Amino acid sequence: MTEKGYKRTLVTTALPYANGPVHIGHLAGVYVPADIYVRYLRLKKREVLFVGGSDEHGVPITIAAKKEGITPQDVVDKFHNLIKKSFEDFGISFDVYSRTTSKIHYETASDFFKKLYEKDCFIEKTSEQYYDEQVKQFLADRYITGTCPHCKNPNAYGDQCEACGTSLSPLDLIEPKSAISGSKPVLKETKHWYLPLENYQNWLEKWILKEHAEWKSNVYGQCKSWLDMGLQPRAVSRDLNWGIPLPIPDAEGKVLYVWFDAPIGYISNTKEIRPNDWELWWKNSETKLVHFIGKDNIVFHCIVFPSMLKADGSYILPDNVPANEFLNLESNKISTSKNWAVWLHEYLADFPEKQDILRYVLTANAPETKDNDFTWKDFQARNNSELVAIYGNFVNRTLVLTQKYFNGIVPERQEFTEYDKEVFAEIENGKLKIENHLENYHFREALKEAMNLARVGNKYLADTEPWKLAQTDMARVGTILNVSLQLCANLSIAFEPFLPFSSAKLRKMLNL
Ligand code: MF3
Ligand code: ZN
Repeated sequence: MTEKGYKRTLVTTALPYANGPVHIGHLAGVYVPADIYVRYLRLKKREVLFVGGSDEHGVPITIAAKKEGITPQDVVDKFHNLIKKSFEDFGISFDVYSRTTSKIHYETASDFFKKLYEKDCFIEKTSEQYYDEQVKQFLADRYITGTCPHCKNPNAYGDQCEACGTSLSPLDLIEPKSAISGSKPVLKETKHWYLPLENYQNWLEKWILKEHAEWKSNVYGQCKSWLDMGLQPRAVSRDLNWGIPLPIPDAEGKVLYVWFDAPIGYISNTKEIRPNDWELWWKNSETKLVHFIGKDNIVFHCIVFPSMLKADGSYILPDNVPANEFLNLESNKISTSKNWAVWLHEYLADFPEKQDILRYVLTANAPETKDNDFTWKDFQARNNSELVAIYGNFVNRTLVLTQKYFNGIVPERQEFTEYDKEVFAEIENGKLKIENHLENYHFREALKEAMNLARVGNKYLADTEPWKLAQTDMARVGTILNVSLQLCANLSIAFEPFLPFSSAKLRKMLNL
């Protein structure tokens, strides 16, 4: 049992789009913090399930396929495998990493929609939308460009003008153009199904603003501003030939909107590994559900998906959504389309077996409360002056001295001095602080405390100078190294959630 009577924790991570590889921004914002949290819970022997997967629907994937002359399935096959491998390589310890083109997901998402449809949770609306006659396709907002009516920028998008920041609807654009074929789109009537979010407004206000005031301020603030603007119906279907077909009559050519099916992927992927007890993870109030995401996903995870779950009525809701801000790269926004990123597979090609260094730097500099900047200079400095100079140095000195004076065997200890006891008290105290930070999703602070414990070790060796005592008092040297080795063992645990590869190595060296 933990706080609030929870018995188990279900941790999900945003499903990355399978239209490109994953980069350091993904890792820093979502996957490393989630993995730290899960590894911590496992160390505490708490029951936990860690669910991830690839998001394989949506318009960008169809565009990528067209560009390369391959099918959307080819695109997602390629990137799903690459992404999955990158996560494995970086020690992201998923219990399941699946995909939204799986059979079980098609069934789960279809059934989810059907139940809401049968409960009359949707409204149907016919409206006029832009259609590209050349490629015979309705155009998503992002795929219509034109002139901004406010600032006359000729390259505004159907959902937003990036020059003046105004949010737009495609119908606002002057001289609209299809971004797919370049042709002039025509207006055509089409029917869609909408989730009337305004019906959930009062309930969401109570659930988030009153009952979850403890959520991170960036998350709470975004929710509040959405709620203050007043919620509107959201379309849950699209005219597209890539996606999960609407499982109802008279819906030819319509698929579930990608943001409707993707979060249901969390449920499908749970079913995949827990076919017999998946409901325990999704429908039992003793399960704590936590969504790790980036800030661009907040509205979907705090407002839209909870409304879907609420509409169904049989699911639990997230206890927390610890969303992070963005990581920039050398002062510029990371961008897949502009190829400005450090791709994980390329990092590993350049720095083989150095996963933990990147995990360390991305956690120490995580965009927990504001956007942060990744620089190679900082990467180098943190490696040299923290990982090597503090943690590595302490472990190295302890093991070298043990080898030198005691043939690598843990020395017997004599009575502990006051100083020795202080070191043990620091370990206990550090442990409590680390745990407290981790429980509250303060991963940077937790990591800092772990590093402080290594600092304690360095100071202890510098103060007690066992290499000098070796001439006069070998028994005391033995006790000092005994204390130091115990600290090393504790460090291997304290750092395990953050630096799992190094911890495994250290445990091996210590023969733990
Ligand atoms: N693919 C989305 C993105 O990268 C995230 C989807 S999260 C899910 O922004 F909940 F929908 F799965
Ligand atoms: Zn503009």
